[in-house]
Amino acid sequence: MLAQAASAEAIAPPSVRAGTLRSALRAATAEAHQALDATFGAFELQSRSGYRRFLEASAAALLPLEAALSEAGIAAIIPDWEQRLRATSIAADLAALGGTVRPLPVRPGFTAAGMLGAAYVLEGSRLGARVLLKQTAASPDPTVAAASAYLGHGAGLPLWPRFLTILDNAARGPRETGEAIDAARQAFALFADGARLS
Ligand code: HEM
Repeated sequence: MLAQAASAEAIAPPSVRAGTLRSALRAATAEAHQALDATFGAFELQSRSGYRRFLEASAAALLPLEAALSEAGIAAIIPDWEQRLRATSIAADLAALGGTVRPLPVRPGFTAAGMLGAAYVLEGSRLGARVLLKQTAASPDPTVAAASAYLGHGAGLPLWPRFLTILDNAARGPRETGEAIDAARQAFALFADGARLS
């Protein structure tokens, strides 16, 4: 997020410790994040049609990813996983805006490290959501402004710091790091596909 570096600072101070799984994931997906940031940032979030397309693009990736991770047993690794699910929230916002969910296929066969890599992308998207929520909340269209269940999900809860603690304590040998990075890149690619197809 280059254009909004100031907000980025406020949300995530530059305290990414070297040698952690998070720093490896962050470095390996920085380019994908930057591209996605530009793609998702191009949606006109204050207009009903632009926000609907943004939510459709997000839901196309988020719903099947969450479901696949639940199915793979991620709750054994992330104990508060249920609290993190945003499927119901995004479906409610889409219903309010007359949008449609078109879930993309997710490649099955997550390893434990792969689940963490994919969850890193989903959980990280909350940091961007805080920035985007400021835009939708200021929309002159009251339906757009009110449809904040997805972008506002988990506000006030320490979901990101708690996730980072799990990531910090996870195995991070070369195999686990590679698996986490692969899964994170696939998750970013799924969001990019969602944006391309909406
Ligand atoms: C316009 C859309 C987006 C904006 C404005 C945005 C903005 C941000 C900001 C401000 C941060 C925290 C600062 C930083 O660490 O660099 C962040 C981190 C992150 N975002 Fe985004 N983001 C957007 C879209 C997304 C999407 C769609 C995803 C994933 C599907 C995503 C994944 C992540 C991840 C994984 C991190 C954590 C990076 C770290 O380890 O520090 N972002 N984003």
